[in-house]
Amino acid sequence: MAAIGEKMARALNEQVRAELYSSYLYLAMSAHFSATNLPGFANWMRVQAQEELMHGMKIYDFVIARGGRAELLAIEKPPFEWASPLQVVEEVYSHEKKVTGLIHALVDLAAGEKDHATTNMLQWFVDEQVEEEANAREIVEKVRMAASGDEGIGALYILDRDLGMRPAKLGPVASGD
Ligand code: FEO
Repeated sequence: MAAIGEKMARALNEQVRAELYSSYLYLAMSAHFSATNLPGFANWMRVQAQEELMHGMKIYDFVIARGGRAELLAIEKPPFEWASPLQVVEEVYSHEKKVTGLIHALVDLAAGEKDHATTNMLQWFVDEQVEEEANAREIVEKVRMAASGDEGIGALYILDRDLGMRPAKLGPVASGD
């Protein structure tokens, strides 16, 4: 198989940056939840941050396996404060939709380049984005319900307890504790 083309490698390096930014953004959200006494939400976001790092590494490893040069690009500082839990999870959902758009653009590029190996690798991400968007949409609905119900803050704490049970996936970037 021919080495990966320069244009494709550059676009994949950009995607590594986007996945690592997602990780950074979700870790910032986790820190925000830790600081606002919602440890379950903080756990959920932290697990999400770990998954994003794994997404980035998957593409990074692919670029190298294809004989390309993995170039690490600058990662922007994520926001620091959010007005409410609902605002955070709505931002997660809109961010995931944006990432889906980036993945689809890469699929189009790979097709244009007739790069079948990259097309195949990206299929995993196409499927993953369906799941990521569904998870984000579900949590937005739950927080919206908790925020609008009669139980108010009580419902939010029950949700927080449930989110605290999301296990970390074991992998090369697990926290080890
Ligand atoms: Fe790696 Fe949440 O997309």
